[in-house]
Amino acid sequence: MASTLDRLSYAARQTARVAWYAGHYAAGRRLLKPMPKPDFPIGPTPSRAELTADMRALFEREWQDIAAGLFPAPRARGPEPAEFLRRSLLYFRDLPQVDARRHGQSDELPPGEQGDGLPDYYRQNFHFQSDGWLSEQSATIYDTQVEVLFTGAADVMRRRAMKPIAEWMAGRNQRDLRGLDVGCGTGRLLAFLHDAWPGLKLTGLDLSPPYLAEARRLIGRTARVKLIEGAAERLAFDDASLDFVVSSFLLHELPADIRGKALREMARVVKPDGLIVIVDSIQKGDHPGWDGLLDLFPHYFHEPYYTDYVGGNLDAWSRAAGLTPLFNERAFLSKVATFAK
Ligand SMILES: C[S@@+](CC[C@H](N)C(=O)[O-])C[C@H]1O[C@@H](n2cnc3c(N)ncnc32)[C@H](O)[C@@H]1O
Repeated sequence: MASTLDRLSYAARQTARVAWYAGHYAAGRRLLKPMPKPDFPIGPTPSRAELTADMRALFEREWQDIAAGLFPAPRARGPEPAEFLRRSLLYFRDLPQVDARRHGQSDELPPGEQGDGLPDYYRQNFHFQSDGWLSEQSATIYDTQVEVLFTGAADVMRRRAMKPIAEWMAGRNQRDLRGLDVGCGTGRLLAFLHDAWPGLKLTGLDLSPPYLAEARRLIGRTARVKLIEGAAERLAFDDASLDFVVSSFLLHELPADIRGKALREMARVVKPDGLIVIVDSIQKGDHPGWDGLLDLFPHYFHEPYYTDYVGGNLDAWSRAAGLTPLFNERAFLSKVATFAK
């Protein structure tokens, strides 16, 4: 049962996170050269006050679920304070390179070499980030970059996947369940799942060895969480072998054909009574007053497949992949979509 102290502690930690990353955001804006205004039409955009209120409401919804006993309050997950600060420093040191790319420098990652196993669509400076997904340095500062972008709300958006998982798990024994996180990146959602249900057998899959190494550092050594290198569009799992599949912020990074294959693979590997939960960007029309943000995002952050993603419909793609949409929750700038097979 959550106490008043638990609530205060949750609120204090989330407020501190938001203040920390909002400070980075403000400092970063002062360091970056302004971008030219987009020369294409933009839909409506929210005010900063509206965004802040919506983010607060999201933290409140998470707290209500914690108080209702759906899952425990998240424990602080991240490096020790000195390493945490070092990462902020690295983030700011990298900003000039990011800015140079924003102002016209094109992709610098070479096309894939035959046999290295990495597809060309993957070898790009997503978000203008240095080295794309392909270096230890990129993996080290990714979490800071994402939290700055979302002013401290990235983790809580990922954790909204836990609500449908908690509800689906009612009456099931966690020790009997196997779950997969497709495109697990630095492992933050996996870490939260492991903290909440340490009996689950979890696997994180990603194409980036440095991101997987970072995920291992975050989660620590445990046989309950395996991390494997692999592609979303070719999952190395048998048909109907997993109880649930999650994926956060992967699908908008994929070209349409690969995205369709990834969804079909998720449908293939999950058991008939299993669950699939996708956390990704809201799409056009999910929250019409914010559509302009979806127009602007790929202009300011290199996102080659984002416009196609937000212009489509995740439920329709999932139906085409053999899944049945159950329900969606808009969580700030993301949508948490739940599917049955
Ligand atoms: C935006 S990050 C999201 C990472 C993480 N799920 C999160 O919530 O932060 C996208 C991740 O997907 C991985 N990725 C991209 N294309 C992939 C593919 N085809 N198969 C597996 N992983 C892929 C990248 O290496 C990167 O770690």
